[in-house]
Amino acid sequence: MTSKDRLSPKEHYQQMRVLSCERLWTDEVPKFDRASPQARISQVGVIRAVGVVFSESGSTEQKQQARQWLQQLLQDPAEKVRRYAMVALPKIGAAEKEESELLSLLKKTSSDREKKFLAQTLEKIGGAATLEATSSGDLARFDRTAQKVEANLARQQNPTAIRFDQICPDFKGLRIHLRGRSGLESLIEQEVQLPRNNATFRVTHRIRSIVAIEPLRPFRLADIHALRCFSDAGLVLGTVKPQEDESATIDALAKVIASPSVSHLLTALTDGPIRYRLEFASMGHQRSGVRQLTNRVYALNPKLLNDSRHAPWEINIYHTPQGLSVELSPKLRPDPRFAYRQRDIPAASHPPLAACMVLLADPEKNDTVWDPFCGSGLELIERALLGQVSHLYGTDRSREATEIARQNLASSSAAATPHTFACCDFRDHAQVAGLSRLSLIVTNPPMCRRVPVANLKHLIEDLFIAAADTLKIGGRLVFANPLPIKPRDHSLKLAFRQKVDLGGFHCYLEKYVKLAPDASRSSTRDRKDPHSHAKDAPLSKELRAASPLRKKHGWDNMKPPHRKRS
Ligand SMILES: C[S@@+](CC[C@H](N)C(=O)[O-])C[C@H]1O[C@@H](n2cnc3c(N)ncnc32)[C@H](O)[C@@H]1O
Repeated sequence: MTSKDRLSPKEHYQQMRVLSCERLWTDEVPKFDRASPQARISQVGVIRAVGVVFSESGSTEQKQQARQWLQQLLQDPAEKVRRYAMVALPKIGAAEKEESELLSLLKKTSSDREKKFLAQTLEKIGGAATLEATSSGDLARFDRTAQKVEANLARQQNPTAIRFDQICPDFKGLRIHLRGRSGLESLIEQEVQLPRNNATFRVTHRIRSIVAIEPLRPFRLADIHALRCFSDAGLVLGTVKPQEDESATIDALAKVIASPSVSHLLTALTDGPIRYRLEFASMGHQRSGVRQLTNRVYALNPKLLNDSRHAPWEINIYHTPQGLSVELSPKLRPDPRFAYRQRDIPAASHPPLAACMVLLADPEKNDTVWDPFCGSGLELIERALLGQVSHLYGTDRSREATEIARQNLASSSAAATPHTFACCDFRDHAQVAGLSRLSLIVTNPPMCRRVPVANLKHLIEDLFIAAADTLKIGGRLVFANPLPIKPRDHSLKLAFRQKVDLGGFHCYLEKYVKLAPDASRSSTRDRKDPHSHAKDAPLSKELRAASPLRKKHGWDNMKPPHRKRS
């Protein structure tokens, strides 16, 4: 007996999993085939490894060979070998031939465990023959199989599309939840009420992270998705009070989803079979709950097919103070509202946050806009999409980021907006031709999380200085401030401040307006700010070195300045 024989199947699999297709095929598969029946049982890990490795890196020809081998193993006298082959087959594209093999095995086997595995494999690869078999005999016992196979067939034969431009039927009294980062609710609400949204919806109430709206007139899904400040939107299908008996809760939820009015709504808005993915949002893994609920919905309304893969609809169940809120949303990944994002950077802004910042900026005619930390360009592009921009300036110390921002702008509908992207430290803005007398600075600076910054406090202080220098009177600075510090330059007057959750940490979304010198002097006199954390700091010698701006403000080159404190 070799040492390999003594490994557990899992350990054996882990050893096999790291081998290449070629090594598996030329060394391990023949070794397995030659082994004694007893040794084969302890080496089943190789079957699993073939499924995984060939699916990830096998050529079409290699997958075909592997499929034939696995198909043969379905005839193996050992049930365990057959089971491993069943699990591996769907990974490498098993289809009709294997389906008939599996169905005939189902007729022969008397093992309940094997039947269960067969049903699970057929759920993944089964077609018309499996669907027929679900109406009677052994497969009829597995309540999920028919629904899964029907969803597979629907997906393959009749791809579904959502009708975004169809008027939603029975719109009266329908509630819609717009969800977003906590802290952005007021901006989400403000966007709903903008004249450009034609008074289609009215806000009914706001709770943490949710702005609830209702339609004032017939509307289309496209009207909801014309709004850019929310992260997710859900049509509220109903609310269920959780009950002590879990199956009673599942039953009540199923009745909401399978109700005639929801069926009517889904039929009107869907081209093709209705497939949806169900999730108990923010409630952790609820596999058995999802399974029970989707089975129950299918039993009540077989037109509604649960499909965890590529379903066009999502039904999410959220905990709310009123109970479990059942919400329907088109599954939009990637979000078509931000389809201009051809390329990304690791620290890219959350797109709805960029849209909120632009809304807060209150776009003006002929805006001249600068994003000192433009990254992939979301804030600039969101502003450009609203039109009436005379010039966009984007600076970033990463050349790749400025290139990505340029490409993203080019793929947006605002591609024609005059623009300049420059790879430089934002403190060197004076070297960018034309970058002065700006009407708007909108930016999401590095926050020391994904983008390292030697001294974040100095970076934010320098941003205030750059804003005071480059904004014209009345110009606005809108940015996500990671620190509780304020400008030392009193010409920047705080106009808005809101704490926003950025997913595990928070920042302050702030807006400043540049005042005329007289106004800023009186503002300085009036200013009594016990919370100001910004302290005056003398400038060190080397910071007075380079450009006139550097001399004026003491800016270091690419690194933030390390100033000595007195
Ligand atoms: C949070 S990201 C900006 C994300 C951006 N809004 C987007 O849509 O992708 C911060 C960016 O600041 C840049 N950066 C960091 N320090 C800088 C500096 N001193 N001058 C200019 N850019 C800087 C980083 O390269 C990074 O791309």
